[in-house]
Amino acid sequence: METIVVSVDNFLDKENNYEQAVDILEKGDVVAFPTETVYGLGALATDEAAVDKIFKAKGRPSDNPLIVHIGTPDEVNYYAVNVPATAQALMDAFWPGPLTLVFERIPGTIAQNVTPGVSTVGIRMPNHPVALGLLRALKKPLAAPSANRSGKPSPTEAMHVKNDLDGRIPFIIDGGQTGVGLESTVLDMTTEPPTILRPGGITTEMIERVIGSVEVASEGVLEEAPRAPGMKYTHYAPDAPLLIIEANRAKIAQAVEELHQQNKQVAVVGPTELNVETANWYFAIGSSENKEEMATNLYKALRQCDRTNADVILAAELDLEGVGTAFMNRLVKAADGKRYKSLS
Ligand code: TXA
Ligand code: MG
Repeated sequence: METIVVSVDNFLDKENNYEQAVDILEKGDVVAFPTETVYGLGALATDEAAVDKIFKAKGRPSDNPLIVHIGTPDEVNYYAVNVPATAQALMDAFWPGPLTLVFERIPGTIAQNVTPGVSTVGIRMPNHPVALGLLRALKKPLAAPSANRSGKPSPTEAMHVKNDLDGRIPFIIDGGQTGVGLESTVLDMTTEPPTILRPGGITTEMIERVIGSVEVASEGVLEEAPRAPGMKYTHYAPDAPLLIIEANRAKIAQAVEELHQQNKQVAVVGPTELNVETANWYFAIGSSENKEEMATNLYKALRQCDRTNADVILAAELDLEGVGTAFMNRLVKAADGKRYKSLS
């Protein structure tokens, strides 16, 4: 299969921008498209055979549910019941935007393989002109996970999608680099209080300002019976082992030296200010004063590490304030929980 990549101008809203993509989707195939978080791999959420192609293209475990993307908030009521007033308040505050809400599902509306093993459905309205333009032209919901091969970092550029899925999907809409850079916050509205299953761009603080206190699912506790099935899978991992390290220039420089003594080549991912020149590669992902910028560039840097001969990747940690929680959630997964341990 040839994979066609077509660029669209995010600022030029033309109905026929999406003709080809709509055509492919209506015929039951998949299309990769940009959202404000990461690129998604979409299929008609009502078409089981089309949804199956998502799992095949990604190599995704078939028991991990997909998020349903909608073009207008009203559509929630086609697929979900018992939508509480608190959810309406969150939709008013944050949609379109990087917040997925999990509701009780109305049976028989969404294809069953979108929500394997659960009686709920995760829904979000993305805040990206291309995603919204596509959904409006299609007038149907799109089931869409991140458009990476399962286990790889989510794609934040069309080229990342092409690198992972070339020849496996027919069509990629290129809308440039995505903004948030980390996947949406997933909030389970079926529990009281609601539970954050995955931290993201809409932070706990932002949610609590609108609806009061929420629970945060502890992934350690959930390992055996995960609430967000995605929690149990290795995720976001670059090829070389990744180790988290304090964001301190002297400590990173010492780690680089120790690793060099073991004849290891070292790539470092960290803030612009820390640029440790002795590292074999230093990927600066933004100012440490600007966590949003660092989140935007994290996955791209992890993919750049895969293009080096690094034996080890060191990644500087962030504090947990604001989007720091989501950033560290992804980094800890990429590191499989490991930190650099100095020899001294
Ligand atoms: O930002 C995003 O959310 C991106 C873009 C493309 O929208 N999508 C994305 O999808 O990250 P995916 O499939 O890579 O991650 C979806 C996560 C998984 O951890 C999955 O287990 C969880 O959401 N999830 C989806 N539906 C759920 C449900 N009904 N109950 C619990 N967790 C659910
Ligand atoms: Mg994903």
